Amino acid sequence: MTALLEIDGLTKSYPSRSGFVKAIESVTFSVPQGSFVSVVGPSGCGKTTLMMSIAGLRPISGGEVRMNGRPIDGPPPGMSMVFQDYSRSLFPWLSVGKNVAMALEGQRKSRKEIAVIVEQSLHSVGLDGSEKLYPWQLSGGMQQRVAIARGLATSPQLLLMDEPFASVDAQTRANLEDLVRRLWDEYSMTILFVTHDIDEAVYLADQVVVLSQGPSVVRDVIDVDLPRQRDQIATKELPAFAHLRANVFSQVMGSARRTDLVTSAVHPE
Ligand SMILES: Nc1ncnc2c1ncn2[C@@H]1O[C@H](COP(=O)(O)OP(=O)(O)OP(=O)(O)O)[C@@H](O)[C@H]1O
Ligand SMILES: [Mg+2]
Repeated sequence: MTALLEIDGLTKSYPSRSGFVKAIESVTFSVPQGSFVSVVGPSGCGKTTLMMSIAGLRPISGGEVRMNGRPIDGPPPGMSMVFQDYSRSLFPWLSVGKNVAMALEGQRKSRKEIAVIVEQSLHSVGLDGSEKLYPWQLSGGMQQRVAIARGLATSPQLLLMDEPFASVDAQTRANLEDLVRRLWDEYSMTILFVTHDIDEAVYLADQVVVLSQGPSVVRDVIDVDLPRQRDQIATKELPAFAHLRANVFSQVMGSARRTDLVTSAVHPE
């Protein structure tokens, strides 16, 4: 499969009082066209930094990110992003419909065309007829559906999702996971999905990229050879699912343990 997205030796440091702080040591992996790839890693390892860099929203310190073979140096066409914190990514003073329509700003579309796209996007996430409501009138799960609808409005080739379901309850999360799998199929998208939930990473994806403790490197890329049709109960009961989850878990824990050892060697108690 050809790679839609190539992340090649990406490094990122942030300026700090004492010079700079490294958030990403060096990350290299690629995302095949049409695939669903999840990225897991411990808290603070640089996942959001990685996503913002891929989206062209943060300048990178070294390496290269390419989409369709072209280096990214600003938000590229054909890419949308859904953030973790829907309460901050939706505009509370705009209706649901206007929030979704924001994605189409700057595109030459008539009001009628925009209305059709907004209606279609909201239909795709099961929120028909909610155009005139305001985000604060909706539950957390529904607000995240609005954020997803906004991501879909441009019919992106690549959808980036940064821990999108971290702030919703378990039942809502399971529903949203299945929604995203369905949309991935319907919209023929490629999805790069960041999570720190190992079950979620395995359940959703074709491939799991495991990042180390920060500043991150890629620890492993694990193929998920589960049947394409996923089910919250049946898939999670498969021996292959248990095996994959154990494999990812030991990689994530392994990276944390190794760093703990280094830290205690430097700062003996
Ligand atoms: N704008 C910033 N300026 C300075 N340092 C930053 C900035 N954003 C992130 N960092 C630092 O970079 C590192 C990685 O942060 P990042 O938010 O990318 O991690 P993360 O894996 O997304 O964390 P979490 O699991 O908590 O979402 C952290 O040490 C963080 O303090
Ligand atoms: Mg983050």
